[in-house]
Amino acid sequence: KLVNGYDLMKYAQTRNLVLPAFNTTNMEMTFAIAKGLNDAQLPGYIQISSNNLRLSDPETIVFLARKAAVKYDIPIGLHLDHGKSYADVKACVNAGFTSIMIDASHLLFEENIAAVKKAVQYCHFYDIPVEAELGAIGGKEDDMASESDCKTDPDMVLDFVERTGCDTLAVAVGNVHGLEAKPKIDISLLEKISKISPVPLVMHGGSGIPFDIIREAVKHNLIKINYGADLRRAFVTTFGQAYEKNNMETDIIDLSLSGVKNVAAVAENLVKTINDIPI
Ligand code: G3H
Ligand code: ZN
Repeated sequence: KLVNGYDLMKYAQTRNLVLPAFNTTNMEMTFAIAKGLNDAQLPGYIQISSNNLRLSDPETIVFLARKAAVKYDIPIGLHLDHGKSYADVKACVNAGFTSIMIDASHLLFEENIAAVKKAVQYCHFYDIPVEAELGAIGGKEDDMASESDCKTDPDMVLDFVERTGCDTLAVAVGNVHGLEAKPKIDISLLEKISKISPVPLVMHGGSGIPFDIIREAVKHNLIKINYGADLRRAFVTTFGQAYEKNNMETDIIDLSLSGVKNVAAVAENLVKTINDIPI
């Protein structure tokens, strides 16, 4: 069932669970993510980045996510990932998203604070939690690329969280977006930030982070880990392999169904692994 973001976090915290947030793009990915979570019988998020709203608008994604989640008993949140404007934040809250990220991390510190504060005011009125980001995560995701990967400065964390009122904090600790750059997670920096931050932390760029590092990372007040590229690759590979075998292949229905199955299996494995449950 689709649930409010605060309820989802409470559900995870009382059971000592880490929540995966899987990026969707379209109907098949949305259905696959919900299926993967249900197959694992573990909670998590379906999320879509502001960039992807170009393909699927907020109302469509809410419709699909509700449809995907309604048949399952586990709690699932619908999250705006890397919300790039106040307009996107409002559109997603109004459409029925249950959790929001505003990403103003590319701005100067004070401007980042102002943007997050504004989003928080809007979201909190509707009882929707807000994730914000401090520091710059490297790598490339969709058309969003960061040249610099400036790590989160622990000395700025308390001031940032207190003044913005954000509910979770996305950190840059050597994590990178996409599969091209290699992550190099600085666990001691993560630990330092976790001791200072009054709110739980979020790790972006989950794809490609070795599982032994994830197991270390989750000890430091991580509530949410984002996975995008791993799932997209599972979907695209399904089509690519079929085309390589037969370049006259046009059976989009069977291929899409296989894609859903393959993406669901990846999501199921990831949510189990980050919660240390044998696959
Ligand atoms: O916001 C989305 C994520 O941080 C996904 O990163 O594609 O490297 O798993 P990833
Ligand atoms: Zn991200």
